[in-house]
Amino acid sequence: MSIKVTWLGHAALAVDIDGTAILIDPYLTGNPLAAGDPQTIPADYILITHGHGDHVGDTVAIAGRTGATVIANFEVASWLAHKGVQKTVGMNPDGGHDFDFARVALTPAIHSSTMPDGSSGGQPNGLLLTTRDGRRLYFAGDTGLFSDMKLIGANGLDLAVLPIGGHYTMGPDEALQAVKFLAPRAVLPVHYNTFDVIQVNAADWARRVHNETLSKVIVVDPGGSFTL
Ligand code: NI
Ligand code: MN
Repeated sequence: MSIKVTWLGHAALAVDIDGTAILIDPYLTGNPLAAGDPQTIPADYILITHGHGDHVGDTVAIAGRTGATVIANFEVASWLAHKGVQKTVGMNPDGGHDFDFARVALTPAIHSSTMPDGSSGGQPNGLLLTTRDGRRLYFAGDTGLFSDMKLIGANGLDLAVLPIGGHYTMGPDEALQAVKFLAPRAVLPVHYNTFDVIQVNAADWARRVHNETLSKVIVVDPGGSFTL
């Protein structure tokens, strides 16, 4: 089973699992770091962590063009259905659902989740994907640090994707502690350098993580990819 992860800038990611195209938080239009074109990017599934505009992003347009199934919390999924998205799956934390590419479960996140038009986006989430060959990928979404990350990492993680930019989410110090709680094999920092208030030197953060944990930090430029 091959898993390829591409950072599209900010918290937007393209994950290819054996040819299934999964987009996570596809904020491309208006994203100064966008490394993908919403008019052409492939999507079979779109996963949304919470209702903020820098995460919902181009979901309605991309789902309309591709027919992708959108997976999110119940409120975000309902909002998107009202906006015309044909296929939505709304869940809440820990329930989970088996899709053809992986089992997807929502996890808690400490953040907020108002939709772009001010309506309620329910509770913010992270995403835990368990592939059919048993690999576990955790996308924290926008979150502050919380000690239950220990539970999310308890059965082992092949990848953790963590915000490090601060201001709206964990900053470098909290994200370093998150790596210690999660103990993933690899960690990808996201949600930094998009805006002035979330400027972070990712190479410096990677050095700190390497010095204090056993996790491998993968730092890529927007548009950069790696395989698991
Ligand atoms: Ni947010
Ligand atoms: Mn955000």
